Amino acid sequence: MSRKVSCLGEDIIPPCHVGVIMDGNGRWAKKRGLPRKFGHREGAKNFRSITKHAKAVGIDYLTYYAFSTENWKRPQDEVEAIMDLFDKYLDEVNDFIEENIRIRFIGDRSVLRPSLQAKMANVEETSKDFDAMTLVLAINYGGRAEICHCVRNLAQMVRGGEIDPEDITEELIEQNLYTQEIPPLDLVIRPSGEQRLSNFMIWQAAYAEFYYSNVLWPDFKNGDFDRAILDFCERNRRFGGI
Ligand code: IPE
Ligand code: IPE
Ligand code: MG
Repeated sequence: MSRKVSCLGEDIIPPCHVGVIMDGNGRWAKKRGLPRKFGHREGAKNFRSITKHAKAVGIDYLTYYAFSTENWKRPQDEVEAIMDLFDKYLDEVNDFIEENIRIRFIGDRSVLRPSLQAKMANVEETSKDFDAMTLVLAINYGGRAEICHCVRNLAQMVRGGEIDPEDITEELIEQNLYTQEIPPLDLVIRPSGEQRLSNFMIWQAAYAEFYYSNVLWPDFKNGDFDRAILDFCERNRRFGGI
């Protein structure tokens, strides 16, 4: 469904699936002498405006890395503050709903607060037929955990006699990841200067293009997003061919 759009004055065909590793909230707050949670609050505001902008740019799937399986290592008050923000934002998703945006969550939600789990299920159900863009939120998500989850499912299927080991193909693995029916990543954007995946969609990013920026996530604005998209459009993707 990709179509030509104008981006920073250029005609482009935007990438289908963009992943964003929202990083740098803590440093943003520290630079201002504020507690880290203020950075998360500012980052969450930015999430909202970049999402609307991405829809306008013609992105079909936009995935945000919001909380990793490793982020539980942080001090409890910071984790609580992040969970409070999820709770608040899930109460305020109406503007996305009005924009016809479908919302999905990936990650292990079973250990999240019951109130949050209920809101997640509700938002997914309400928005399931919307088709302007799919917004995917990775919460308690880890690429390795996702692959473990998939392997466990497949092992159960073999044990139950539903499939033979020879039936395990890349397609079958994809159908058993959290991202079933979501296409692979075309572009991964990571603000804040770090140049790593940090366990984000390690299977789905196999052929993604990477774009790194030194701007901290709360300061990463529409123009920065557009530059990432334009940069992507100038790359030559070969997928192993010539
Ligand atoms: C990203 O910002 C938000 C989450 C990981 C939840 P950070 O909190 O990692 O910010 P820095 O990297 O410490 O600046
Ligand atoms: C990655 O950021 C996770 C999210 C953005 C949710 P981190 O700040 O946790 O990653 P590391 O620790 O720098 O690798
Ligand atoms: Mg970080």
